[in-house]
Amino acid sequence: MAEAIPDLRGVPKHRAYSELKGHTEAILDGVSDEVTAMATMAALVHHAFGHLWTGFYRVVVPGQLLRVGPYQGSLGCIDIAFGQGVCGTSAAETRTVVVPDVEKFPGHITCDSRSKSEIVVPVLNKKGNLLAVFDIDSERLNAFDNEDQRGLEQLVSWFASTV
Ligand code: SME
Repeated sequence: MAEAIPDLRGVPKHRAYSELKGHTEAILDGVSDEVTAMATMAALVHHAFGHLWTGFYRVVVPGQLLRVGPYQGSLGCIDIAFGQGVCGTSAAETRTVVVPDVEKFPGHITCDSRSKSEIVVPVLNKKGNLLAVFDIDSERLNAFDNEDQRGLEQLVSWFASTV
């Protein structure tokens, strides 16, 4: 199978996310491996939009610890405790966190100083347990809005319907 990643920069976000969701579901048809799905989504979202960093922090100790991977982009920090930084806040509160300016988020963890804004979406499995958070960083301020939140939450709903 040779699937190309679409270039969705400049495409209206609602259309871009709907195209990505279709693409992801086609590629993952018959797949139930969560790491394979995370790697595939990270690659698609990262290259389709040209983000700085796109990837998952998986729950390794429920309620306590997140660990990086799979991801695309520059080196990510390895471990993040629940409650720390944007990822740990999203995990601890099981909610999407949109950060228009990372310098204004108290406790933001800097893995790459080029990151200016960020969105983190919780990833739940079928049982409603937290599997991971999906984190995206941009070199632009205010890169993410409600449409990104909706599009990404819909994309990761694949896990709640599959694993
Ligand atoms: N900025 C994140 C850390 C992860 S990196 O951005 C890849 C945070 O504050 O949780």
